Amino acid sequence: MSACPGTLRALLAGACAAALLLPQVAAAQGGDAPYVPTPQVVVDAMLRMARVGPGDYLIDLGSGDGRIVITAAKRYGARGLGVDLDASLLALANDAAGREGVAGLVDFRRQDLFETDLAPATVITSYLLPEMNLKLRSKLLALAPGTRIVAHDYHFGDWPPDERQTLRVPEKKVGDPGTSYVYLWVVPAQVAGRWRTEVAAGDGNAAPIELEITQSFQAIGGHAVVGARRVPLHGAHLQGADIHFAVDVASSGTSRRHSFRGRAAGDAIVGVVSVREAGAWRERDWRAARVAAPP
Ligand SMILES: C[S@@+](CC[C@H](N)C(=O)[O-])C[C@H]1O[C@@H](n2cnc3c(N)ncnc32)[C@H](O)[C@@H]1O
Repeated sequence: MSACPGTLRALLAGACAAALLLPQVAAAQGGDAPYVPTPQVVVDAMLRMARVGPGDYLIDLGSGDGRIVITAAKRYGARGLGVDLDASLLALANDAAGREGVAGLVDFRRQDLFETDLAPATVITSYLLPEMNLKLRSKLLALAPGTRIVAHDYHFGDWPPDERQTLRVPEKKVGDPGTSYVYLWVVPAQVAGRWRTEVAAGDGNAAPIELEITQSFQAIGGHAVVGARRVPLHGAHLQGADIHFAVDVASSGTSRRHSFRGRAAGDAIVGVVSVREAGAWRERDWRAARVAAPP
């Protein structure tokens, strides 16, 4: 694919034309996006937003001169991988890693980003065009819940970011000149469907609760069926594998709010439910099993 197809030219707002004029923009060899380095101040903001730490393994998709991976290693002790198709950029990245003393933590490979195994990543960074992001989206959504994805300027279609930041970057000449947008997404667990759970009621009997959870990316909602009553899930929230919501359970003539917190893994959720009883919060272990996938 050409480094500067029409849509790409339109989206990077002249990045390829600017390649003729600016040392900071260059047509990459054989890639799907031109080489435009992320300004260092934006790299710093991306890594802060992703809360990168020494336990992380960061993959930069289209790593250019390697600055994102190298900064993550140097500043936070993170391991990292950069993939790019451009041999001269890979040579720059490897030289810089040696100079900065992080060659033992990072690796740069000549590899198509669409064919890269992303499963080991805890953090993924992207400064790619929206259609490239979209092409990657289903692969990213299938990663381990909690994986952070941080992108410069471009989004993933209708997958809403969990966090966003706008930065004034006077030296930036491409995209939206003078401004950079940084976005964070946390890969959500897939929790849609029908779940069966039980909590001990105040009178000592186990009350079966069925949950119908709906999901659109990280946004969840739904209702619970407790006995013959259908009640809404209050404050339903999902971040990565962490889920919480509250259900009002009627028992012996009183309604008690049950606050559920748990971690989802496949077809199970394990956690704790807090119930207000006799003026105090009581916590009990809670498990749920998915009994039906979403229709
Ligand atoms: C906009 S630059 C971003 C560079 C770097 N990530 C940064 O933010 O400073 C995009 C990079 O993606 C690389 N690239 C484009 N298509 C690619 C592909 N299919 N596989 C691997 N790298 C690719 C280009 O060579 C270029 O270096």
